[in-house]
Amino acid sequence: MALLGIDLGTSGVKALLIREDGTALASATVEYPLSTPRPLWSEQDPADWWRGVCEATRAVLAQARLTGSDIRAIGLSGQMHGLTLLDKSGEVLRPAILWNDQRTSAQCDEITRLAGGKRRVLELTANVVLPGFTAPKILWVRENEPEVYARVAHVLLPKDYIRYKLSGEFATEVSDASGMSVFDVRNRTWSDEMLRALDIPREWMPRCAESHEVTAHVSATAATEIGLAPGTPIVGGGGDNAAGAVGNGVVREGIVSASIGTSGVVFATAEKFAMEPEGNLHAFCHAIPATWHMMGVMLSAGGSLRWHRDVISRGREGIGDSRLENGVHVERPISYDDLMADVASVSPGAEGLIFLPYLTGERCPYPDPLARGAFIGLTLRHTQAHLTRAVVEGITYGLADSLTLIRGLGVRINEVRAIGGGARSAVWRQMLADVFDAEITLINSSEGGAFGVALLAGVGSGVWGSTREACDATLKVTTRVEPSKDAAIRERYAETYARYREMYPALAGIFAKLQQS
Ligand code: XUL
Repeated sequence: MALLGIDLGTSGVKALLIREDGTALASATVEYPLSTPRPLWSEQDPADWWRGVCEATRAVLAQARLTGSDIRAIGLSGQMHGLTLLDKSGEVLRPAILWNDQRTSAQCDEITRLAGGKRRVLELTANVVLPGFTAPKILWVRENEPEVYARVAHVLLPKDYIRYKLSGEFATEVSDASGMSVFDVRNRTWSDEMLRALDIPREWMPRCAESHEVTAHVSATAATEIGLAPGTPIVGGGGDNAAGAVGNGVVREGIVSASIGTSGVVFATAEKFAMEPEGNLHAFCHAIPATWHMMGVMLSAGGSLRWHRDVISRGREGIGDSRLENGVHVERPISYDDLMADVASVSPGAEGLIFLPYLTGERCPYPDPLARGAFIGLTLRHTQAHLTRAVVEGITYGLADSLTLIRGLGVRINEVRAIGGGARSAVWRQMLADVFDAEITLINSSEGGAFGVALLAGVGSGVWGSTREACDATLKVTTRVEPSKDAAIRERYAETYARYREMYPALAGIFAKLQQS
């Protein structure tokens, strides 16, 4: 028998089949479009998600030469926070509004006011209200599309819409529900007080389970459409970050992950409920009962390095970095290996040059959409290699900011698992170890959230006794990097990081004024 994990991402859906010993059998990704009908808006058609899920599931079954009846259970993961609205017959009412949609600043303020201020919101939901979260999107629809709002009967998160399509059930689980601004994270249940304050009917909310619990079974109709067997159990699953943490074995206090993709995410397991007093970190339920996680999300991590690479790659004709293909001029960007070689050629601290990575505003630790990027401390001595080193250090300091807040809450950090593109570079891994002053590790899997929910499906269907047991049975550390023995290097980083931390508070007012110009 096999376990199926489905991860409904922002650019596409990934289906992953694993054996009951955790080894991968087949994986397939199907992309779908994202639309930006207006600046700051970000939407997707749930019908595209479902088409993608059906296609990817059929593809993995074919690759592995299995049929639906070989699947023991299914786990769902996906992009968090998105709003999918259904009417009473289960029809989608408008395109889903996604986690990276920024239209709801006014509704965030309104929610905070209706609930009795920021302190009360933190008491009720453990998080400040952010434009990406779900409840402000509901209010936006109420205010701007009353004809749609009048027909709403169900509110679903993206992966839970897939559960509905698979089974006809309205259900979610605690990790994803945590990012809706109407969930009592401490007590792992809907916040009736928050729902009442916002005048959102409780019955619109799906039933909420723990992540490993069976929430539904594949229906006969869906079975024919997708090629699965009717009655296959579907466990709760998890929001992509919690599911990814399970897939990376980040399931015990002491082990943290630092993921460097376009955005950067620092994720720590907490065995007791904890929250950053100002709400500068997200405090969500983990995909493990009676366990929570603290999370810092940095909006432009790898995204900052890609921007830098693209800028410095431009106009490099004549030196072998661009070429003609079928008569069309093709830019060949500088490779990440070459960029990291440049980083290694400059000493830590980049000779006093600091980069602020807030190219798309910031979320943690500064929830400020107006924050901007900057190079500070330029002199005639600085070369392109210094700029590159400063960018990579700036991203690392941005991640360190979340780690600093997590440590400040008394959460132990013994090991940081490096995930995503940034983890591939040995130079960057050493920098992470030195700046974080922690051991950096890599593990034997890079399947992330899809693997995490396949494990949860195994737990819910009795393959393993618990999620920790599933992780221990399937994942192991393959690489360990210790902080440098050279105290001078660690001190140089510590000094530069201290300067970095002074920059945003000094510049925040100027960033706000730049917005007006
Ligand atoms: C988490 C968040 C993103 C989305 C994107 O708070 O907004 O990680 O889940 O996939």
